[in-house]
Amino acid sequence: MKPYSIAAELLLQDMTITVSFLMMHNSSCLLELTQPIRKNEIPCELLTLGEINLYKKVLENTTYELATTGSQDIKTALSNNTDLIPGVYEGGLKTWECSLDLLMLLAQMSKGVDMSSTRVLELGCGSGLPGVYMISCTSASRVDFQDYNEEVLTHVTIPNVVLNAPVSGKSLNEEVHPSALAQRSSFYSGDWSGFVQLNNPNKAPELKYDIVLTSETIYEPSLNKVLLATIKDSMAYPRGVALVAAKSYYFGVGGSMTAFQSLVASDPELKSETVYQSSEGVNREILQISFASA
Ligand SMILES: C[S@@+](CC[C@H](N)C(=O)[O-])C[C@H]1O[C@@H](n2cnc3c(N)ncnc32)[C@H](O)[C@@H]1O
Repeated sequence: MKPYSIAAELLLQDMTITVSFLMMHNSSCLLELTQPIRKNEIPCELLTLGEINLYKKVLENTTYELATTGSQDIKTALSNNTDLIPGVYEGGLKTWECSLDLLMLLAQMSKGVDMSSTRVLELGCGSGLPGVYMISCTSASRVDFQDYNEEVLTHVTIPNVVLNAPVSGKSLNEEVHPSALAQRSSFYSGDWSGFVQLNNPNKAPELKYDIVLTSETIYEPSLNKVLLATIKDSMAYPRGVALVAAKSYYFGVGGSMTAFQSLVASDPELKSETVYQSSEGVNREILQISFASA
């Protein structure tokens, strides 16, 4: 497994974004990258789902950029035209269908709800549209993002957050307000096994999350334990909930919602219920996890 190496924090200055990468394996090494990103310079398309309108960076532009400037890991994945190289590239560049289910559910759940004291985390975010929705269309106080691959965060997730930054309207000509974004999001890359140690090493209750989101992350059965432990350790006790969106079964890889639900059931401190099901195309579900004592 890849060591948990990098925490990226979004710091916006003078209408540009500075992404700071803290190399965790060597705490004396602070590598600063300055990546000015302006909203109207990001190639994007409008995604409309019911009443939801979100901008999303065009996948072809991202793959084109990374095919030349990406790390060897990403270049290998792109040249092999594969969505998954276990432990190397975990599929975060593209937007998977269950994230759209999650988006729709979040829109229903958050309608008219004051979320100004709600902290949200999206694990295995990839393009991060559920988290992007929470940060741009609700009053959530904080939305943090985690992905296995650093380049997914810098080339897809952060651009999508910027594109939908909550300014006075949705025009791409408008400028992102730097301080508002910087205060509301951090971006973490690396393996789930190191996330909590990096994000909240003392397990401080006030730094835990009211809502943990994750979509299309249960496909690999051997990773389900560490994913569930990360979800549980990240959820605020006792009120926190997690929403796990996934296909009912992952052919060829072996993960399934039934197996993940059984894993949740084996922990007496947790409970779960299915809050969404679709049999249109491939069977898909959303599982809500909460503390048994809640
Ligand atoms: C199939 S992609 C789904 C991306 C996005 N959530 C979506 O639905 O569009 C799976 C995601 O799981 C994450 N992931 C897989 N294995 C991981 C691991 N061991 N540690 C951290 N993240 C992992 C990757 O970051 C990747 O983006």
